[in-house]
Amino acid sequence: MLLTARSLRVLSSDFRLLDLGWPAGEPDPAPGQFVMVRTREGTDPLWRRPFGVHDFRRGRGGAVLSLLFQVVGPTTRELAACGKGAVVDVLGPHGRGFTLEAPEHWLVAGGRGLAPLYYLARLARRAGRPCRVFLGGREAGHVLRVPELERRGCAVEVSTEDGSRGRRGRVTELLERGLARASRRRRAGILVSACGPHGMLAAVASVCAAAGVRARVSVDPLMACGRGLCLGCTVRAGEGYRLACQHGPVFDAAELSWEAP
Ligand SMILES: Cc1cc2nc3c(=O)[nH]c(=O)nc-3n(C[C@H](O)[C@H](O)[C@H](O)COP(=O)(O)OP(=O)(O)OC[C@H]3O[C@@H](n4cnc5c(N)ncnc54)[C@H](O)[C@@H]3O)c2cc1C
Ligand code: FES
Repeated sequence: MLLTARSLRVLSSDFRLLDLGWPAGEPDPAPGQFVMVRTREGTDPLWRRPFGVHDFRRGRGGAVLSLLFQVVGPTTRELAACGKGAVVDVLGPHGRGFTLEAPEHWLVAGGRGLAPLYYLARLARRAGRPCRVFLGGREAGHVLRVPELERRGCAVEVSTEDGSRGRRGRVTELLERGLARASRRRRAGILVSACGPHGMLAAVASVCAAAGVRARVSVDPLMACGRGLCLGCTVRAGEGYRLACQHGPVFDAAELSWEAP
């Protein structure tokens, strides 16, 4: 379907936030689902690119889908040039998303990994659930949307690898410290949801397993068809393989195999 750009915001030198009008009659996407995007006709790039649903709102002016993206290649460069009124070709939403059933939500995001977690944070807060967000990035410009998360009532902790914002180090160290301080009873009610680089997700899986806390992760392997046809997005599970586009992108951390890919 063809969606019209409502606004484009520059969040930092690498990151943009694009609001697109969502057609009347289309169902609401779930947090953790993704859309397949193309910015122009033709064969270059050949495949659509996947983007998580960063936010979705219905208002008097109609429904709006927000994408948060890092400018890395041709599609994201063209999305970054979408002025108001530009048309973007979108398929979806696809995939299985996050669940909201837990009494307390802890979110762990590495850089652009915040993209699919923001909508989850907003819905968790709307449902009255406590929500704690651990945001990590290489540097300050990769730590995104802190004021908006705090305004919605999330407790936010930040770390950067170069120490330019928040605590110096890895975001999983913040998670580990937080879990170590929580009582066993509280940990039983916490669901950790994470998105970020493979190494970060592996660390989240290991920290949560050691603390006896449930964890769900959104993976982002390269995708071509986005519909279970090309087998390009295979991820290793404990027993066999799963397709990130069809069986994920959100999986129970314990279901996946975390050896080096
Ligand atoms: C389910 C899912 C959801 C995603 N959601 C978002 C999102 O919300 N925001 C966002 O910024 N990005 C997201 N991504 C990643 C995004 O789809 C890619 O970065 C995409 O390739 C960018 O397209 P491009 O044409 O701009 O650059 P491309 O030409 O496709 O890629 C530019 C460079 O990045 C490398 N690259 C691309 N994807 C990956 C990858 N997954 N792992 C390692 N290297 C890679 C390429 O090899 C190339 O060097 C998501 C990916 C998946 C699978
Ligand atoms: S992207 Fe083609 S099977 Fe998943």
